[in-house]
Amino acid sequence: MEYRRFGRTGLQVSVAGLGTGGPSTLGQNTGVSEAEAIRVVQRALDLGINLIDTAADYKDSEAILGRALRAVPRDRYVIASKFMANDQHTGALMPVEALEKSLHRSLDRLGVDYLDVFQFHGIQASLYDQVMDRFLAEAHRWQKQGKFRFLGISENFRTDGTHRMLRQALTDDHFDTVMVGYNLLAPGAEHVVLPEAQRRDVGVMVMFAVRRVLSQPAYLAQTIRELKSRGLLGQEAVPDDRPLDWLVHDHVDSIPSAAYKFVAGHPAITSVLSGTANLAHLETNVQAMLGLSLPAADRTRILSLFGRIEESIGN
Ligand SMILES: NC(=O)c1ccc[n+]([C@@H]2O[C@H](COP(=O)([O-])OP(=O)(O)OC[C@H]3O[C@@H](n4cnc5c(N)ncnc54)[C@H](OP(=O)(O)O)[C@@H]3O)[C@@H](O)[C@H]2O)c1
Repeated sequence: MEYRRFGRTGLQVSVAGLGTGGPSTLGQNTGVSEAEAIRVVQRALDLGINLIDTAADYKDSEAILGRALRAVPRDRYVIASKFMANDQHTGALMPVEALEKSLHRSLDRLGVDYLDVFQFHGIQASLYDQVMDRFLAEAHRWQKQGKFRFLGISENFRTDGTHRMLRQALTDDHFDTVMVGYNLLAPGAEHVVLPEAQRRDVGVMVMFAVRRVLSQPAYLAQTIRELKSRGLLGQEAVPDDRPLDWLVHDHVDSIPSAAYKFVAGHPAITSVLSGTANLAHLETNVQAMLGLSLPAADRTRILSLFGRIEESIGN
């Protein structure tokens, strides 16, 4: 495994991290049994993965992780969880007491005394100021009591493809880590978020590296057709059929591998979260990130095709 310094936290974390939300949500959305999900977590640790991202809102992911990690020494893994500051149905901001409740529930379910990183979850740009006003001091109160070591924030990539919220958060400099949506079809974070994170020594986790769009060929073809029809991509830029197959050659054996290599290849990235509970996928994804990088010419071509796209791609 390759380990990278997690920005100013000073922690050394694996370039491949395990994500327990997203389309898989540790197999809870894909029909994977809990026993198999636990095997995946244990295999991840065997492969040298030491960063695991979860959230209070990822169904039972925290509880499953708690059972998977019960016998694992606490210093063998870095756990990042999250607090949802607004009601997912109404959008209304939660009361300040919700942070304490959520944090303690996360600790209980995970079976740990402290989190390594406590993150504000998926904060929309329009709510950022209110979330800071209501919850920042409260988070620091629990940090001082040792309930978590470092404070982080994740963006709401779906509604914030230009990373407005993270740009603000980095300027304010309240956070030790950020989680950003970044993939080869939506590399816009390279212009705005990544240089600033590097400058401020903030650790960066990547979400949306593959998602459905880069793992399901029909969805990819449909997305490319839409980009063409909206004039964001030239009609002849890539073929309609199997539009990114030119990335698969030599040591790059699949589009998901190319996609994980692409994001892991940026020097500002600390760790790329792979959101899978499929053992074979986990192994190939780790191999992709550890193996040779994406060829420079392919990286250049990706940026010339998609580098100007400033929106969220990848559901
Ligand atoms: N706002 C937020 O805070 C936020 C939002 C989204 C995600 N996250 C975090 O970021 C993590 C990573 O994001 P993500 O879940 O979007 O992860 P991802 O790794 O980009 O995408 C996961 C999807 O790709 C598929 N996949 C992975 N490897 C594959 C392979 N080798 N071949 C074919 N398909 C493959 C998975 O299917 P299989 O299950 O079949 O492997 C799953 O559907 C999440 O788990 C979560 O922890 C945070």
